Amino acid sequence: QILILDFGSQYTQLIARRVRELNVYCEIHPFNKVPDLHPGIKGVILSGSPCSVRDKNAPDVNMDLFKQVPVLGVCYGAQLIAHQSGGQVLPSHAREYGRAKLTTVDHHNNLLKEISLDTQVWMSHADTIAAVPSNFEVIASTPSVAIAAYKVKDQNVWGIQFHPEVTHTVEGKNLLRNFVVHICGCAQDWTPDQFVESTVEGLKKKLGNDKVVMALSGGVDSTVAATLIHKAIGKNLHCIFVDNGLLRKNEFMQVLDSYKDMGLNIKGVDAKDKFYTALKGLTDPEAKRKAIGKTFIDVFDEESHKISDVKWLGQGTIYPDVIESVSVNGPSVTIKSHHNVGGLPDKMKLKVVEPLNTLFKDEVRVVGKTLGIDPAILGRHPFPGPGLGIRILGDITADKVSILQEVDHIFISGLRQHGLYDKVWQAGAILTPLQAVGVMGDERTYERVVSLRAVTSTDGMTADWAHLPYEFLAEISSDIINKVKGVNRVVYDISSKPPATIEWE
Ligand code: XMP
Repeated sequence: QILILDFGSQYTQLIARRVRELNVYCEIHPFNKVPDLHPGIKGVILSGSPCSVRDKNAPDVNMDLFKQVPVLGVCYGAQLIAHQSGGQVLPSHAREYGRAKLTTVDHHNNLLKEISLDTQVWMSHADTIAAVPSNFEVIASTPSVAIAAYKVKDQNVWGIQFHPEVTHTVEGKNLLRNFVVHICGCAQDWTPDQFVESTVEGLKKKLGNDKVVMALSGGVDSTVAATLIHKAIGKNLHCIFVDNGLLRKNEFMQVLDSYKDMGLNIKGVDAKDKFYTALKGLTDPEAKRKAIGKTFIDVFDEESHKISDVKWLGQGTIYPDVIESVSVNGPSVTIKSHHNVGGLPDKMKLKVVEPLNTLFKDEVRVVGKTLGIDPAILGRHPFPGPGLGIRILGDITADKVSILQEVDHIFISGLRQHGLYDKVWQAGAILTPLQAVGVMGDERTYERVVSLRAVTSTDGMTADWAHLPYEFLAEISSDIINKVKGVNRVVYDISSKPPATIEWE
């Protein structure tokens, strides 16, 4: 495997994804928490950073730790190595940002084997390496960056100023392949089949005859995690699917049926009333999230106590949830407290088993495909844990839920019928507390305003509003107003994230 040390760059996770696309396993660790370099670690990549090596408290690492393995410094990582060895890192005259061409390339160097002259690379840096010590050899440059890549002559250490992990660096993946495969000698054997095989074997050993309880949500992560655990321990996996009264129209029965078809040992629990009672009168989004989270824990706790001798709690946690984020610009603020099943392990005193905690979302989908899970489940849009509870602005009642379910149903099935569902990352409807005047037949109406929301995104961190065809929006709007009692106006949300968020609450 490859160890990636994170110095706080926005691109660190991309490095990991590119390495994994080469079928090589890698892990990201914070620069100040370097794990023991066991023999399985074949190489180290130092990430970029928003900091300057000239800053007083610049993130730093002891390079002596990596004497035994090849090291590749990317951007800040390259500057750090040069700086530590007595090179000179200075502010660039102009911030070097964007596309550039490698106008000299040393093809004898293993890192740059078969990288084309004039290939496009992506620069994003405010500092530049102005001079390197005499035991450094410059192996590539661009017209404005003389030291675009270097090799330390007597060591297995390389530095590159550009970012091979972004797609704008056209041959970036080849360069990373040169490093991880040819220089570090990693076997490219980390494949979905191999992941399934070794994970199931590992789960069998870890769980033995123990029972595991797990909450399923109908989403991709919990479904794939449950399928892996089920493959390992069969009926000893007890799944629970809670109807919190905030699901989509017909979702509870449909999802329950598909879990049964998959052979999972699943129990559906109708807890709608408990949730509505807990939510009564609450209008603040965070208060609603907390009430939903707490009620969920109570319901799940009660249900799991009905199963004797449970030792483990299964969870669908994925890698981005466990990567320890490096904060080099002060602590980050909580924008929304996302409720998944946080708090459960503490309360239930169970050991936690999380078979997907080393995978990125797209890798979970690939593993799901390998496991033969229904593509309709794998292709589902993300849906927030608190469900329609954060799409009904203000307080929640059963009546409002059923209005929103109808609106959402028309929108989502319309997207499917028009072949648009897979083109957007997430879609849904929001029931606003606004009432507007309208006219239906000869009558004046005074009813609700709903907003439709659809976004394109790759990870939900940033998103653009989806440019859905006007004709489609027109059809959906008239369908909603004609069919859903209580709604007389439909608007479409054209805000991107940032500065807006995907959900309205
Ligand atoms: P925002 O609104 O923060 O949403 O742009 C980003 C993604 O997260 C989902 N989301 C949630 N998921 N619990 C969840 O499990 C929550 O409380 C929650 N709030 C937002 C949202 O649907 C989108 O996919």
